[in-house]
Formats: sequence, structure tokens, C-alpha cells
Amino acid sequence: MTATAPLRCADGHPGHERLDWRCRCGRPWEYDALPVFDAAAIETSTWSMWRYAAMLPMPVGVTLGEGGTPLVDVELPEGRFRAKLEFLAPTGSYKDRGTAAYVGEMRVAGAGLAVADSSGNAGASLAAYTAAAGVKARIYVPEGTSAVKLGQISAVGAEFVTVAGSRSEVGEACRRDPAGIYSGHSWHPAYLCGQLTCAWEIWEQCGVPTAIVCPVGQGGLFLGLARGFAALLAAGIVGRVPRMFAAQASACAPVAAAFSAGRSDPEPVSPRPSVAEGLRTVAPVRGAEVLAVIRATNGGVVAVDEPAIEAAHRHLADAGLLVEPTSAVAVAALGCLRLGEDTVVPLTGSGLKALAALADC
Ligand SMILES: Cc1ncc(COP(=O)(O)O)c(C=O)c1O
Ligand SMILES: [Zn+2]
Repeated sequence: MTATAPLRCADGHPGHERLDWRCRCGRPWEYDALPVFDAAAIETSTWSMWRYAAMLPMPVGVTLGEGGTPLVDVELPEGRFRAKLEFLAPTGSYKDRGTAAYVGEMRVAGAGLAVADSSGNAGASLAAYTAAAGVKARIYVPEGTSAVKLGQISAVGAEFVTVAGSRSEVGEACRRDPAGIYSGHSWHPAYLCGQLTCAWEIWEQCGVPTAIVCPVGQGGLFLGLARGFAALLAAGIVGRVPRMFAAQASACAPVAAAFSAGRSDPEPVSPRPSVAEGLRTVAPVRGAEVLAVIRATNGGVVAVDEPAIEAAHRHLADAGLLVEPTSAVAVAALGCLRLGEDTVVPLTGSGLKALAALADC
């Protein structure tokens, strides 16, 4: 773990061991303090997430032009909403905002080999940004990861290692790799900071929406959006934040299970197979914060079954929006909620990575 601004864990331990990927108490690192959001400091001539560089704790490191995604009105059988087209990112997924932020930090630290675990998109993103940064990368992926994502990883010169077992076992195998600096995006606070910029763009594009419905595996984008709107509220720029709704596949829904049981922290679940390959997280690193945000914003969590995901995927494609099945989970969840059209749904991953899934439905 490395950073250009001071770190602390949620229990207040300072981050002296800067190469550790988490605090010795087991919690993830956070930045000690983030710059206060200042609308006058937005670099309006920059059409990427780096228009908010003054509000981020790291310098502009490596960029492939991430951020600056369109917000479009959509009407589907599941409802009317505004879609934030995050799949138009350089590597075809919303991960790129976070990856750009944390690869810049790793390069500052002089990392020679980045090792990371991924369900596919984060690995494809890390592979591209490490290539741009001149850093080598080895990505650990679960068995069954889509061939396109593996192709993306190797096309830009990174290695991948396939691991049999659960998503957590992939992470454990990766952390045992003695050769590299563990750079799992789910743990890195810089990654979350990159995701805050999605909220700030939404605010510039349409103000504060009534609600946001977001797919949640680790909750990286969900928390980035929540923290981004919280930063606007803290700066006195807006008077409220959106209601935050988490969407999960019922095949792997630890946040939904904890929410309905009234728990403050998710318990690990045993996942069933799902087309939503990005949501196979059995125990999210910041699951307690995801639940706290849902409760504090009067939001909710919806677990959707496979037929509903497949139907939403098809409906999106019929409207010309080619996304991967994981992204369709949020639209399927929207169909279970009556939120009104002032709702934003981020569409997180490109359907070009999963064309076969559409051929099946
Ligand atoms: C396309 C897509 N959408 C959503 C998610 C879930 O994101 P998170 O794990 O940050 O909640 C992922 C995770 O890999 C993904 O690949
Ligand atoms: Zn600690």
C-alpha cells in the first residue's frame, strides 16, 4: 500500500507501514483527510475525471481519458431513468476511474510488479493502466472469467493466473504471490477516490437525483457515489444526497441478506452460479459502510433473480444499450422499485465483453 497523502484506518491507526495493503488490525486504509470540494476549483477545460484534480488527494498520475461519461434518458419495461454510461470508459468498465487514481499512487511508490485479484474488469483495467505507467502486472482471476476480459489483460502485456475456487480464494492466492506489491482495488482508498468523481459528474449533469440504483459486489462504485455526494453536502453545495439503492444478484447477495436481517455487517454467503460475474463477492471489504449508507439515505437493497437479470439485459440491448449482464442487475432492481424518472443508474460494463450472453436470450 502506498499513497501520496497520509493514511489512517477506520479505527484511527496511522498508516506507517505504507507498503501494507491493509492496516494490521485488518481494516482497509482511508485517507486521513480529503480536500474540501470547491466548485471554483473544477478545471472546466479538462474533459475527464481529472477536472476534479484539486479535490483528489493524489496528483494526476496516469490517464487514458477516464471519466466524462454521458448521462442519457432511458425508458425500458423496468422504468424510466437516467443512465450514466460508465461502460464507455477506456477499458470498457467503470473501474477505470479508480484504477487511474491508484496506479498513479503505485507508480509514485516505485512498484515494479503489481499483483491483483479481479473478477475480470478490474484486471483488464489494471492491465491497461499499468501498461501506460510502465509497471508490470499479474492478475489473478477466478476460473470461468470471460475470455474477452482475459484477452484484454494479455493484449496489453499483463499476465493472468486462473484460480479454482471462490472469489475470496482468488484474493488469498494473489496475496500469497511473493513477487509483487498487492494492489487489490477493493482495498485501495485511492481507487474509491477515483469513483467519487462519478458523483461529481452526475451533479454537474443533473444536480442531485432523487435516487441512485447501483450494482454492488464490493460496493466500490456505490461507496464512491455515496462519498462523492456526501462531499458536496459537507461543502454546503447541495442540501441533500440521493437515496442509495444497492442491486445484487440473489445468487450472491450478502448485503441484501444483512439488510433484511437488520445486521450492521454482512456475513459471507455461499454463492450460486450467476450471469452477473462481477457480483460474486461473498464478503465485501467495506460491507458495513454499504449498509450504513443504505440506512442513512433511506435507500434499500434489492436482490434479483437470474430471469429478471436476463430480461433487463435484453431490454437494454433492445434500446441500443449494449452492457454486460452484471450491469443489467441494477436495471432489473429498478424494475422492483417505484422511484420515478429522476433516478440515475450507472451502466458499468460494456456488452462488447459479453456478446455471447445476449445471443442466449
Ligand atoms: C460490470 C461490473 N459492474 C459492477 C461491478 C460491481 O462493482 P463493485 O465490486 O465495485 O461493487 C463489477 C465488479 O467487478 C463489474 O465488473
Ligand atoms: Zn487499524
